[in-house]
Amino acid sequence: MRQKLLIATRNRGKWAEIRELLADLPLELVGLDDFPQLPEVAESGTTFEENALLKARFFHERTGLLTVAEDSGLEVEALGGAPGLLSARYGRSDAERIARLLAELRDVPAKRRTARFVCVAALVGPGLERTFVGEVRGKIRLEPSGSNGFGFDPVFEYPPLGKTFAELTRVEKSAVSHRGRAFRQLRDFLLQWLSRSGARGTE
Ligand code: IMP
Repeated sequence: MRQKLLIATRNRGKWAEIRELLADLPLELVGLDDFPQLPEVAESGTTFEENALLKARFFHERTGLLTVAEDSGLEVEALGGAPGLLSARYGRSDAERIARLLAELRDVPAKRRTARFVCVAALVGPGLERTFVGEVRGKIRLEPSGSNGFGFDPVFEYPPLGKTFAELTRVEKSAVSHRGRAFRQLRDFLLQWLSRSGARGTE
């Protein structure tokens, strides 16, 4: 039987991206839907890294499974790095969060609408705690465009392609996104860790 890896997120968009990024690991990927009794974790940390570790530790301790979790957000330069750590709490829905962001940037011209997405992925298992950081730089559009992805994707333009993340397919987005960058490092590390722990197990 394959060892299980818990992808500890209740965000559908993140889940789909992370599952695809880790699909070729020799592990059975499971989600929080398999553990409906587990509560939410308060994201009480003061950095993306603290929050990612907090979530991964919590779900590893409760399930005993090798666990990945992530914390991510959008940092807009003209807003002093907001919404940042509070991205998920910036509004009650994706539409509300986007409307608020565009309203706050109303008077900011195109060339000053620079932003970045940051993702910290945490991996926690027996005797194991590691984090991996990914970021991607872009610009906030004047209006939303595209219908793929989630969150701020319709207003985040990736300049090398001249498209918003919501105009890219999931594979195209993950090739350049903050989450893709963080989880490819995590995946490579995990492959090595598994081969080392497999070797230890057969000694
Ligand atoms: P949290 O990591 O659950 O605290 O929430 C991160 C929030 O940042 C999401 O709810 C989105 O609003 C935003 N965010 C993070 N990553 C992405 C992304 O890849 N696309 C669009 N929005 C994102």
